[in-house]
Amino acid sequence: MIISSSSDYREAARRRLPPFLFHYIDGGAYAEATLRRNVEDLSDLALRQRVLKSVGEVDLSASLFDQPLSMPVGLAPVGLTGMFARRGEVQAAQAATRKGIPFTLSTVSVCPIEEVQSQVAKPIWFQLYVLKDRGFMQNALERAWAAGIRTLVFTVDMPVPGARYRDAHSGMSGPNAAFRRMVQAVLHPFWAYDVGLMGTPHDLGNVSAYRKEKTTLEDYVGWLGANFDPSIGWKDLEWIREFWKGPMVIKGILDPEDARDAVRFGADGIIVSNHGGRQLDGVLSSARALPPIADAVKGEMTLLADSGIRSGLDVVRMLAQGADGVLLGRAFVYALAAAGGAGVENLLDIIAKEMRVAMTLTGARAISDISRDSLVREIERPLARAAAAE
Ligand code: FNR
Ligand code: LAC
Repeated sequence: MIISSSSDYREAARRRLPPFLFHYIDGGAYAEATLRRNVEDLSDLALRQRVLKSVGEVDLSASLFDQPLSMPVGLAPVGLTGMFARRGEVQAAQAATRKGIPFTLSTVSVCPIEEVQSQVAKPIWFQLYVLKDRGFMQNALERAWAAGIRTLVFTVDMPVPGARYRDAHSGMSGPNAAFRRMVQAVLHPFWAYDVGLMGTPHDLGNVSAYRKEKTTLEDYVGWLGANFDPSIGWKDLEWIREFWKGPMVIKGILDPEDARDAVRFGADGIIVSNHGGRQLDGVLSSARALPPIADAVKGEMTLLADSGIRSGLDVVRMLAQGADGVLLGRAFVYALAAAGGAGVENLLDIIAKEMRVAMTLTGARAISDISRDSLVREIERPLARAAAAE
């Protein structure tokens, strides 16, 4: 099939993956309203076309946490990435590194920290979850540091997992899940061979390494619910701040007051995110949450954002709303599932090309030229849509 955009990769991933995995990636929580808003609110931001600005060669380069990057884009932490392509975390990390951007390894990855970091030349980023077992957290931090990782992404918007209704229907969880997954695997032979057969072991690599026994994926959704800690507060983060000498980035901020708390806490950055609409459905899209947060903390810490970014145009829109950089979630996962590391590299080329066009036509030669003036402010498309629906 012809691939020219991230939506083509989504379609290719849908064909290749067993449905339980495709819907785990593609779905959101409850009625998926926030998932839709993330995408729609971004595309509703009208870019402000400017012409004859002698832009010439566009420069996408940027720097985050003192790391020089080819563009201000990174790969978001995504659990189970090793189930979407053979040793998927390694392939995605290699693709990101080759393209000069950071890869973030999830706590609940298939490939453990050491396997991934040993196969790429630059330090990856590591994402930590708050688990009830603080021994695991300590162990994961020690292993990440020992592997040479310096940037820690600490995710705080999952004290409890949001219910993703698609999971129960798809066989990810629910009645006869194991049997249904097996039938789906048989019906998707490319995946069954590439990942099912050749991509083993299939377990939560970081957790298994700590527990010294295999933590299987049999009841992954149940495992998340049983092991995540709803009692977490800012105080619990203090020992991590003490321990971790590199940049610490808090992921899952959606409110300016929480952003201020993150500054007070001493975070080096935050990621404005609603977890891709997978947690509390009905919350604001990241695109809309971002401007007041930027007003509250800009200049005091690095401001990243994710949720809903599907193109280079969306990257420029998020930067215009006030982000210093963005993370790609589903967009890179679809490409990985469809075509492995080569797919991720191609997607990153597509994103870079789209950014260049958007920057040229908004009159921005460098990333620092992108600002709220890159958008037409008075156009409120959601209101127009509501009026049309009446
Ligand atoms: C995620 N996300 C996520 N975040 C995190 O901190 N740790 C994790 O393990 C995961 N796992 C995960 C799995 C899957 C399948 C998805 C789609 C997402 C959230 C992720 O980091 C990011 O915030 C969103 O994916 C951003 O939204 P978009 O780009 O997918 O719309
Ligand atoms: C998810 C978790 C693992 O969104 O972050 O599925």
